[in-house]
Amino acid sequence: MTNQENKSAKTALITGASSGIGYELAKLFAKDGYNLVLVARSTEKLNELGGQFWDEYGVETVVITKDLSKEDAARDVYNQVKEKNITVDILVNDAGVGTYGLFATETDWEKEKSLIHLNVLTTTLLTKLFLKDMVERNEGKILNLASIASITPTPLMAVYAATKAYIYNFTQSLINELKDTNVSVTALLPNATDTDFFNKAGATNAKVTDNLDDAVVVAKDAYNALMKGASKVIPGGLGNKAQEIMAYLTPQETLAQMMRKNMEPKNTAQTEEKSNKAAWAWGIGIAAVVIAGAAVALAYNNSNVVDKARYRYKAGKLKSGADDVYTDVKDALLSGLDNVKDAVATAKEVVAKARETFTEAVS
Ligand SMILES: NC(=O)c1ccc[n+]([C@@H]2O[C@H](COP(=O)([O-])OP(=O)(O)OC[C@H]3O[C@@H](n4cnc5c(N)ncnc54)[C@H](OP(=O)(O)O)[C@@H]3O)[C@@H](O)[C@H]2O)c1
Repeated sequence: MTNQENKSAKTALITGASSGIGYELAKLFAKDGYNLVLVARSTEKLNELGGQFWDEYGVETVVITKDLSKEDAARDVYNQVKEKNITVDILVNDAGVGTYGLFATETDWEKEKSLIHLNVLTTTLLTKLFLKDMVERNEGKILNLASIASITPTPLMAVYAATKAYIYNFTQSLINELKDTNVSVTALLPNATDTDFFNKAGATNAKVTDNLDDAVVVAKDAYNALMKGASKVIPGGLGNKAQEIMAYLTPQETLAQMMRKNMEPKNTAQTEEKSNKAAWAWGIGIAAVVIAGAAVALAYNNSNVVDKARYRYKAGKLKSGADDVYTDVKDALLSGLDNVKDAVATAKEVVAKARETFTEAVS
């Protein structure tokens, strides 16, 4: 039975499905039998995708060609959906762009204005319009594309990172407002991902592009989190999760300096590569120790006598890990890492806290 015959099939509206993360998400929805409303500027690509989904999965696709950086674009999309009598069960606010360069002297205001409109205003209004309907039905899900940049100041992409901070904060507030409903909103915080994003932002030469996550993995993790109604998802491996914890533990000035090095052009960044790597290793090391410590402590508290002995052994190992991280931090600082000087107090505190956790777990 195709979805045309299956009137109970649900519909997902995805902005920015013509490439990258949105494209990978659209494939996952289609595979699961969702009808789709795809919105972006590239009509041909979206039509092609719709044809492919029909052939492979028998799902219907409505294409809405729209420049979402324009005034009234969100309302227009909503009106078109209403006119077609479509109920949107899931909204994915994926469309977004970045722009690269020093804010004061290099970036272009017109581009930034249109970026803010797309990333912030359109996402907010689409959410407002569709969320109201979802709340009335007491059913629905929304996925908002934030970024790891939502929680880290990002020099050379200052305006972009600020828009993503808005999206993350906005989403977390909505989650609280919706807690007594069956409507969920999920924030997706990918790290740098292998799509056309950096190319369009004029940032292909930035150091950060040396290490990109796979859009297929990002979309899969996002899809699973959205379906579970999770409040947020940081896709990928432990490294990305550790980066999140580091962002919460590190002073903003230090974080900004780390991100600056990561965003600089490759040739400039190479000269500073050593100190940058040390800084990241420092943060990720601390975060890994804290995560591991918390996991061991939690497991210890919930385990039987035999397991407790096992966890004591693990905690002992972790303790020496914490010592290693502490030594690394000291070495990094002594070898001239001026940019992490501010962090020493935090580092000591965090390692001391980690030690305290292990000690509690084994005492
Ligand atoms: N790649 C990363 O490193 C990364 C990391 C964190 C978060 N994100 C976020 O992930 C989202 C998707 O980005 P991506 O990495 O998949 O980049 P991408 O491959 O460049 O995809 C961007 C999508 O947004 C659409 N779009 C851009 N401007 C638009 C406009 N004015 N009107 C309508 N649609 C527009 C594009 O479609 P058309 O060009 O056809 O209009 C395209 O489908 C963005 O919100 C981005 O901020 C990306």
